[in-house]
Amino acid sequence: MNPTASDIKSPASVSRLRCINCGTQADRADQDFRCPNCGDLFEVFYPGWQTDHGLRAGQPADALKQLWRDRKTSLAQADTSGVWRFREVLPALKPGYEPITLREGNTPLYDLPRCAQSAGVQFLQAKHQGMNPTASFKDTGMTTASSFARQEGFRWVACASTGNTSASMAAYAARGGMRSLVLIPEGKISWGKLSQSLDYGAVTCQLRTDFDGCVRVLNELVKRKPIYLLNSVNPYRIEGQKTAAIELLEQLSWESPDHIVVPGGNLGNSSAIGKALLEMKDLGLITRLPKLSVIQAEGANPFFRSIHEYAGKRLIPTQADTLATAIRIGNPASWKKALRVVETTGGAVEQVSEIEMAMAKAEIGADGVGCEPASAVTLAGLKKLVKQGFVKPNESVVLILTGHVLKDPEFTLKFHRGDLFAGTPHEKDAGSLAPLQRAPLVLDATVDAVAKTLEQFENEGRQ
Ligand code: F0G
Repeated sequence: MNPTASDIKSPASVSRLRCINCGTQADRADQDFRCPNCGDLFEVFYPGWQTDHGLRAGQPADALKQLWRDRKTSLAQADTSGVWRFREVLPALKPGYEPITLREGNTPLYDLPRCAQSAGVQFLQAKHQGMNPTASFKDTGMTTASSFARQEGFRWVACASTGNTSASMAAYAARGGMRSLVLIPEGKISWGKLSQSLDYGAVTCQLRTDFDGCVRVLNELVKRKPIYLLNSVNPYRIEGQKTAAIELLEQLSWESPDHIVVPGGNLGNSSAIGKALLEMKDLGLITRLPKLSVIQAEGANPFFRSIHEYAGKRLIPTQADTLATAIRIGNPASWKKALRVVETTGGAVEQVSEIEMAMAKAEIGADGVGCEPASAVTLAGLKKLVKQGFVKPNESVVLILTGHVLKDPEFTLKFHRGDLFAGTPHEKDAGSLAPLQRAPLVLDATVDAVAKTLEQFENEGRQ
C-alpha cells in the first residue's frame, strides 16, 4: 500500500545546525552564524531523516509529493507560499509563530526556443526566480530567515548587498514589523534595487567600498549590536532558497533534468539549489541527480579560479568588476558549500565575458522572458559548456534566472542604444551585439513616418 500524507512525520522539529568543516553541532548559532570552533559556516541538517521518527530515504516520497501538490489548492497562508508549502523539509518555527510571507516562490518555468537554438541544445528551460514578490530569488530565503529573526525577538535585521538581498530584506522586515539596515557599495548597484529598499523603509547606507567591504563592516557590527544578520551565511536563508529546486523538480513531474545552470556571486544560491537536489535524492523523491553548474563573470571569478587554478583547495579573493553588479563579488562566503554540491553532482564551473553576458541577456529578452544581467551569465555559460561537449545537444537543461529584467533598465537601455561598452576595454568587441540592438526610434508624429519605418524593417528582413 502506498504511504499517505498522515504517514509523514515532520523532521522539522529535529533540525539542527552543523559546521560544514569540523562537524560541530549546535541548536543555535552566534550572531555571525560561524562555528565557534573553526570559524566555518553552519548548515541546517535534519537528524530525523536518519531515524525512525522522521522521513526515511525512499519510503514516504509519494505521500510527500501528494501532500505538496494538494496544498496548491489550499487557501491557508503557509500553503499559498511557494516556500512554506514544502515545510516538511524546512526548519520549523516554534508553535504560535507565523511565517512572514509575501507568497514567494510559485515561479514559472518557461521554455526558451530561440536561446536553445543559439546555445546548440534541442530543449532549454528557465526557472524564473525574478518572478518573486521583490523580483529576485532572494525572497525565497528571506521568508524563512526573517521569520526566524522575528521569532528570536530581534528588532533590527541587516545585510550587505549588491542590491537584491537588500530589497528583499527591507520588504520582509517591513512586513514582519522589524527595522532593517542595508549596507550597499556606493554607486555600484542599480537604481531599481536601491529604490526598493528606500520604498520598503530600510535605513540605507551607501558605503564608499565594494560589496566585500560592506560584508567586512557588517560582520564586525553584528558582534557589537543586537542585529540579526540576513546575508546568505545565515543557514535559514539557504533552507528557503533550496525550495526553488524542489518546486522545479515538481514542475518537471520529478524527472530530473540533466543540467541545472546558476549564476555564481556569493555562492549561496548554488549551495541552496545543490542542497535541495541532494536532499531530494536522499529522500527518494528523485532517482537521479542533475549536474549543477555555476557560471561567473570573468571580472568576478574567484570561484572559477579556485576550481581551475587551485583544484578547489583554496579560494583567493579578487578585486571584482563587472557590469552585472549583482555578482560583483570577489570573496564569496559560501564557496565551500558550493564546491561540495558542484563536485557531488558532477557539475562544471565556467566564466563568461561581459560581451557574452550582454548578448545572452538580449537573447533571453528576445524569447519574451527577460532577466537582469547577472542571470544572463547562465545562457552565456551554457553556450560554452555545449561547445566543450560537457552539455550534449540532446540533454535537458534548466537555467535559473535570478532577477527580473526591470531590476536594471539602465543596462538594457544602454545595450540597445549601443553605448553599454563605450569607453571600456570591451568596446572593440561590441560590434557583435549590433544584430540584437533595438534602439528606440525618434520620429515625426505622422502615419507615413511610422509606416516607412515598418517597411524598412520588413525589407531588411530583420527579425
Ligand atoms: N543573481 C542575482 C540577480 C543576484 O542578485 C545575485 C546575488 C546572484 C545572482 C548570485 O547569487 O550570491 O547566491 O551566488 N546577489 C546578492 C545581493 C549578493 O546582495 O543581492 P549568490
